Amino acid sequence: MCGIVGYVGNRQAQDVVMEGLRRLEYRGYDSAGIAVVSGGALHVRKKSGKLANLTALLGDEPLPEATSGMGHTRWATHGPPNDRNAHPHVSYVGKVAVVHNGIIENFAALRAGLEERGIEMGSDTDTEVVAHLVQDAFETVPADSASRLREAVRAVCNQLEGAFTLVICHADEPDTVIGARRNSPLVAGLGDGEYFLGSDVSAFIAHTREAIELGQDQICEINRDRGVTVVGFDGVEAQLSHYTIDWDDAAAEKGGYDWFMLKEIAEQPAVVADTLRGRLTESGQIVLDEVRLSDQDFRDVTKIFIIACGTSSYAGMIAKYAIEHWTRIPCEVELASEFRYRDPVLDRSTLVIAISQSGETMDTLMALRHAKAQHARILAICNTIGSTIPRESDAVLYTRAGVEIAVASTKAFLAQIVACYLIALHLASVRGTKWGDEVAVVVDQLRSMPEAVDRVLDTMEPVRELARAELADQSQVLFLGRHVGFPVALEGALKLKELAYMHAEGFAAGELKHGPIALISDGTPVIVVCPSPRGRDSLHGKVISNIQEVRARGAKTIVIAEEGDEEVTPFADHVIRVPSCPTLLAPLVTAVPLQVLACEVAAAKGLDVDQPRNLAKSVTVE
Ligand code: F6R
Repeated sequence: MCGIVGYVGNRQAQDVVMEGLRRLEYRGYDSAGIAVVSGGALHVRKKSGKLANLTALLGDEPLPEATSGMGHTRWATHGPPNDRNAHPHVSYVGKVAVVHNGIIENFAALRAGLEERGIEMGSDTDTEVVAHLVQDAFETVPADSASRLREAVRAVCNQLEGAFTLVICHADEPDTVIGARRNSPLVAGLGDGEYFLGSDVSAFIAHTREAIELGQDQICEINRDRGVTVVGFDGVEAQLSHYTIDWDDAAAEKGGYDWFMLKEIAEQPAVVADTLRGRLTESGQIVLDEVRLSDQDFRDVTKIFIIACGTSSYAGMIAKYAIEHWTRIPCEVELASEFRYRDPVLDRSTLVIAISQSGETMDTLMALRHAKAQHARILAICNTIGSTIPRESDAVLYTRAGVEIAVASTKAFLAQIVACYLIALHLASVRGTKWGDEVAVVVDQLRSMPEAVDRVLDTMEPVRELARAELADQSQVLFLGRHVGFPVALEGALKLKELAYMHAEGFAAGELKHGPIALISDGTPVIVVCPSPRGRDSLHGKVISNIQEVRARGAKTIVIAEEGDEEVTPFADHVIRVPSCPTLLAPLVTAVPLQVLACEVAAAKGLDVDQPRNLAKSVTVE
């Protein structure tokens, strides 16, 4: 949420900052702004709406040449998304500029203090107070201090409560940009004589793949001569923790697709294969050496909680079926935002699996911290190396989905399911609830999934047509599923809601008759995720009965069914075929047409598929 860029180097700061903002725009697009330092003064441009509006403004009002600067793309929290509330915010004498992601919880008291001194506020934001406070603090730091701006920012950070990433520059220090973080993401990039700050590495991936992880409550100074220095809020200098980004610039571009989402959907066969790579032996066993939990730790587990939000929570719901079936350990899936408020029962033998694409979702992070405080072991399943959730977990299994830029999650979802299954199979092996040869059978099935997903992608043209012809002008669409098909139905509905702004609901197919069936009238589209006829005997027949029930009430049925399942044909207005695969692995193929469908409906309605309204990727507020 909110994208932040900082730069000091030898290029035009405007070019570097705008390029970084373009790549971070998925994090928020209510407004955008840029500040550069040149000729002993700050120069700021900002505009409400998408980055394109700021680009147009820069065309009309160009910035001077400068080699340091910063920028921001906003997802509004305090104050409406207008020009006045756009970042950067500038201090009362115009020397300090600040961009911010997060919420400063004590801003009202700080603001009242500033107003009492006669300082007039130029915005409704919580951020602006920081600019004024840094301005004042700067004046109190001796001019010969090693880094005056860094010390001023540190003094201010110690007064702030809440979650924040800040990037700050000062007109009198053209060679320095300061970043600070508490419970909100920030990374630094190391180039050749140039240095970067970003909400994530895509801010600077076009220039360098060398990055530095920043911990909680740290301040990072990038300076033309001194390079990168990191100190804690307590002033103690920290060791730099370097890493190399393992994806490149091209991964962050659309590569010929109309939308990032389409590209990311198309990458799914490779993502499934990559998430399995190196984690399976020739003989079909699971190797998770990178997960820093011993076999004994896994044997000691008596209960599992999965905590996650949104799409990641649906991956968790799917995983629950596999975990309980393969390991016989009770597993509960909880929305991270609710978890800690109901006082869950946790102890040392509880394994908490925190699933997060971004690794920065505040609800999940807070749930994780709650579980940690109760002495549970935490295993993160995460897509973002070095992000906060894996850093605060006891162990991590990284999904290898690569950067996900479209706001709606697709490839990360499939990767999360695969990662959860690896954990479940590993648990089953070390606990002896599955024999080696049984694990090997599932491993073989998993190995065949990239090809199965690929086959689904090859047959999506009729799904696109269906989306345009039958769904784009509907006001509501219902989704039904049973067993693992139920979370897939929920995910299909979420995709349609968030992309096409349509009323879409997912239901457990058996639950429909207990109320929701009243929603069905003549022509209501109902999308049904049908299980394999070869799976659990009663499941397929039950879903067919559910299809008949809705059809009898006028629904138009679109059924996702396995190749060769002819039993569904008489009851389906449209059938979307997916390759046959074992029940527990079916979500890896049945979710794909639902992603394509939502994407196509949104495109047909002329909506921005990659950046749906009101949303942002990486939700760093609670
Ligand atoms: C929906 C979507 C969100 C995220 C949720 C959790 O398409 O992307 O529902 O799944 O915000 O995000 P992560 O996985 O980053 O914790």
